[in-house]
Amino acid sequence: MQALRTTDPSKINFKEKFNLSDKVIVISGGCGLIGRAFSEAVAQFGGNVVVADIPAAHPQKTAEEIQNRNSVKCIGIELEVEKKSSVIALKEKVLHEFGKIDGLVTAHQNKSHLKFELFENVCEENWDKVIEVNLKGTFFLCQVIGSYMAEKGSGSIVNMPSTYSVVAPNQNLYEGTSLGCPAAYSAGKGGIDALSRYLASYWAKKGVRVNMITPHGVWNKHEDSFEKNFAKYSPMQRMSYNHEVAPALIYLLSDASGYGTGNNLWVDGGWTVW
Ligand SMILES: NC(=O)c1ccc[n+]([C@@H]2O[C@H](COP(=O)([O-])OP(=O)(O)OC[C@H]3O[C@@H](n4cnc5c(N)ncnc54)[C@H](O)[C@@H]3O)[C@@H](O)[C@H]2O)c1
Repeated sequence: MQALRTTDPSKINFKEKFNLSDKVIVISGGCGLIGRAFSEAVAQFGGNVVVADIPAAHPQKTAEEIQNRNSVKCIGIELEVEKKSSVIALKEKVLHEFGKIDGLVTAHQNKSHLKFELFENVCEENWDKVIEVNLKGTFFLCQVIGSYMAEKGSGSIVNMPSTYSVVAPNQNLYEGTSLGCPAAYSAGKGGIDALSRYLASYWAKKGVRVNMITPHGVWNKHEDSFEKNFAKYSPMQRMSYNHEVAPALIYLLSDASGYGTGNNLWVDGGWTVW
């Protein structure tokens, strides 16, 4: 994006910088807890949304509901991120429908990481599934859609690592709960973090910005014992809500962050500051 060459801020419409009107934003995992807040927020800022998710999540239904509430075009496309052919089909369908893609948000994840297995017992199949969906899926989306963006000379990608790609899970958090965080989740998320930085540098000259959002502890009707433990270890003493994560996406997708690439925007209530 070419920025206006001026030192006079009165020449700038700052609100307009956040406007996503006419942009086409693809959101993988668009039916998920955070993905649906992302999809809604993008639509409210005027962006056309492609809700991409597995068939069982019914992305067409989510897309229809978002379109009915907002005056933008919104479509749902079935996607399995770990299959390159599915990601290529997604790109083709979006280009056929809209003629372009301006933004890519990778908000999918494999849920099996929530079922905690002791590290000593993790089987290869479970390790592979988490890495395949979380890390390889992000790679395929960046490769297929990011390469298209690089070729056209513009685009904004937002990937999602985790606090657990930089700090270890505090094992006390899970005491007295049925939850946990297996190593494959941390390892895959660390890969997403590194991949995003790599691509931020790799595509900077091509006009493709690659940034990250790191949420933490987004409330999804968690069991009481987990919520209590969480409050004890969090500087802000509470879990977050999906609607508190989504505004960060508008900043990263829009011209408001036009000079930002390789950033990781933390929405973690201070979890990683101490
Ligand atoms: N929720 C949190 O507290 C939190 C914290 C840190 C990072 N994150 C990350 O943020 C992102 C969104 O998290 P969330 O809480 O909304 O997750 P979620 O589990 O609610 O949603 C994930 C979505 O991905 C979809 N999905 C699963 N497998 C897929 C596949 N093979 N192909 C395409 N889509 C698939 C699911 O159907 C679901 O709609 C994830 O990458 C997650 O790791 C979440």
